[in-house]
Amino acid sequence: MALITRRNLLKASAVAGAYGAGLTVAGGYRSAFASPMQLTAKQASAELMPGKTTANIMTWNDGPLPPVLRMQKGRPFSARLTNRLNEPTTIHWHGLRIENRMDGVPFLTQPYVYTNDSFDYAFTPPDAGTFWYHPHCNTLTQMGQGMTGMLIVENPDDPQFDGEFPLNVRDWRLGGDGQFIAQFKPRDAAKAGTYGTFRTANWQPAPTYDAPAGGLVRLRIAITDVTRIHGFGIDDGDALVIALDGNPVAEPFPLDRLMAGPGQRVDLALRMPEDEGKVATLMNYRATPPYPIARFRSHGASLKRSLKDIRPLPANPVSAPATEVAETIPLDLSATAEGAPAKESFCGSLGFNFWAINKVPWSGDTDPTAPLAELKLGKTYHLRLANLTPHIHPIHLHGMSFKVMESSLGPVRQIFTDTYLIQPDEVATLALVADNPGDWVIHCHIIEHQKSGMTAFFRVT
Ligand code: C2O
Ligand code: CU
Repeated sequence: MALITRRNLLKASAVAGAYGAGLTVAGGYRSAFASPMQLTAKQASAELMPGKTTANIMTWNDGPLPPVLRMQKGRPFSARLTNRLNEPTTIHWHGLRIENRMDGVPFLTQPYVYTNDSFDYAFTPPDAGTFWYHPHCNTLTQMGQGMTGMLIVENPDDPQFDGEFPLNVRDWRLGGDGQFIAQFKPRDAAKAGTYGTFRTANWQPAPTYDAPAGGLVRLRIAITDVTRIHGFGIDDGDALVIALDGNPVAEPFPLDRLMAGPGQRVDLALRMPEDEGKVATLMNYRATPPYPIARFRSHGASLKRSLKDIRPLPANPVSAPATEVAETIPLDLSATAEGAPAKESFCGSLGFNFWAINKVPWSGDTDPTAPLAELKLGKTYHLRLANLTPHIHPIHLHGMSFKVMESSLGPVRQIFTDTYLIQPDEVATLALVADNPGDWVIHCHIIEHQKSGMTAFFRVT
């Protein structure tokens, strides 16, 4: 049983602070020769709602919870997943551009990891940034009940901050007694998705963290929620956006109600208030009423740092798309006839088809349909993503990053990313160098949409 206490969390944030200050902590990365890290998928219980112990949580290892994995850019990492759950699982390393057989998608890239079996993951992360990891099997239940971990790839060349806080931002579907209630309602799955009832950052409702007054702290936010789209802002403080979805932005820009969906990450440089005891609050403005996600309280004498001191983070080595485009691939996101029944799959079909890509609803993990397109290794493609639905969808591609080129809604930030949050009626062009061979899924990261049809895959050969 893994109970989260205030003290554990303080310890966790002290460690985060130590990283920010450039101290080394043993176990931050593992060399090629070190034995693999053990990741045991298991049941746990934890205090999420104050004074109530939630049973049937699923996570990895014993804590501190929620887990934060750290590795280093360009250094080999290995982990043995051992499954002590009562159902199959896998791990997908969201946003990492690694080998296909390490991607964690059952049947497409690896077998199920059954109860008491294990699977060895080994890879070298090519990019530094904020990522996360989660199962790709019975995903709505396993993620909904806890299995979302932050994954931080460090770069020794990153600028130093006066503190650093990973923020695993998510809701939980809990009843008033603190126990899990049904993960979804079919009528909501056919719309924006089913919302959680209890909101947390790092498994706590609006936690408060201490950081040096007048200092610059790095917030590494990952939206690991299965449904909720956020609009981030800071109350009583100033912040610059320094990276999106693991990739540095060329020019950091002020945070102003930035919209981000499930699966997406936002790295902020937050300037702490000048005076001891003053609090800057990370807010979700895309809710009525807006609500606090986490608070940052100044302590000590002011370090007198300025956001003007922030320089851009070093870019990741993502292939730049060629101007000569091999082909444009249309990707039409649409709804299907309401509630068409889907085949049962014990790796997590919801039992319905509500959604489709190019009119084909994904038939379920155990019986993948043909690839949506076959891409030639090394060639540049344009994905023409059209949202024919009245809902927003965070569309996520595994294994490769793409560049946002243009949108029917107006000017775009031409960033590299693994997830594009497409608005209703929007058509967007995404450029992609097919530089990673294998079968790569593309899906909506609102898990109910993913699991009721809005999934497909590309084959790169
Ligand atoms: Cu976080 Cu298939 O993705
Ligand atoms: Cu969706």
